[in-house]
Amino acid sequence: MAEQKATNVHWHEGDITRGHRQKILGHKGATLWFTGLSGSGKSTVAVELEGRLSELGFLSYRLDGDNVRLGINKNLGFTAEDRTENIRRIGEIAKLYVDTGVIALSSFISPYSSDRDQVRALHEAAGMDFIEVFVDCSLEAAESRDPKGLYKKARAGEIKNFTGIDDPYEAPRKPEVHLHSDKQSLDEEVEQILSVLRSRNIIPA
Ligand code: ADX
Repeated sequence: MAEQKATNVHWHEGDITRGHRQKILGHKGATLWFTGLSGSGKSTVAVELEGRLSELGFLSYRLDGDNVRLGINKNLGFTAEDRTENIRRIGEIAKLYVDTGVIALSSFISPYSSDRDQVRALHEAAGMDFIEVFVDCSLEAAESRDPKGLYKKARAGEIKNFTGIDDPYEAPRKPEVHLHSDKQSLDEEVEQILSVLRSRNIIPA
């Protein structure tokens, strides 16, 4: 848990609530937290889902590991401490999207259960939906895809602390959505997520 450094700061409430904003948009805000190995397909599913939601008239926004690390988190690397701070910041950003009424699609390896649980707790404390989507894929399948050639480099010792090779990945124990990206089609995965969004009344049935 990050320490509060600034003193004498207070939350300033406005007149327009999350409820108002959700009414304008016609659906609820929520965070879909995609977690899984590099190359498991988190970003691919998020892109496809964003497209489907958009066709259906629902507003979502993708927060993606590589993109965020090129901007707001450019000062963070891949030590356990930096990964924790990466996830903490993304969790706060995702919450801002949810408060806006948007469906935030966060795709980060987020290898540590405690970091993901922390983001879940922050959402739950604010009365926000947090849906953990485990993009399950065997290391063998992720490594054989190797879309960025990073596994090859990690095996050659050119990248240290690479998740799945010489750094841990803690799989979710009770994710709200469990995908098997090495066995399912992209369409099946998207439909599985949409049905959870409908059953939780985030988007209308
Ligand atoms: S996380 O562990 O902090 O959640 P994040 O999802 O933001 O990671 O970034 C992972 C992406 O960074 C990978 O998809 C890969 O492209 C790149 N990357 C570079 N070095 C590493 C590393 N040591 N471990 C994992 N991913 C790495």
